Amino acid sequence: MSADREALVAAARETCGRAHAPYSDVHVGAAVRSASGNVYCGANVENAAYPLGNCAESSAIAAGVAAEGAQFRIAETAIWATDGEGKVIAASPCGGCRQRINEFAVDGRVKVHFPWQGGEVRTASIDELLPFAFFLP
Ligand code: THU
Repeated sequence: MSADREALVAAARETCGRAHAPYSDVHVGAAVRSASGNVYCGANVENAAYPLGNCAESSAIAAGVAAEGAQFRIAETAIWATDGEGKVIAASPCGGCRQRINEFAVDGRVKVHFPWQGGEVRTASIDELLPFAFFLP
């Protein structure tokens, strides 16, 4: 694992430990490195009214926008997920979060790292995860 990837995955893993996921027991952390080199983290935040919950990626992006404003762009992303006992779960970003990441990605080659089957950390570009992405004309 490259040093950058390792640091981003470690940040996502640490944030995953602070998720608020009492309903699904799926704890997710996300870390994004912005084009200006800062790292922003977010966790999933569930709510008793289920649809009000936020995904971890969404929380991390919100932190990036709050800190950097309209200039905020994503250069690299990592997510991490565990069950309630801390056991790693295979999880790539959900469809909605692929669209969210794409909105801020520097370009389609932005890498997304995520835990996959067998404890492996997989890497895919946002273009691979979201081909033929929707954008406003
Ligand atoms: N979740 C995320 O935080 N990110 C994703 O990309 C997929 C799903 C959260 C939402 C919910 O709190 C829990 O995982 C189970 O769906």
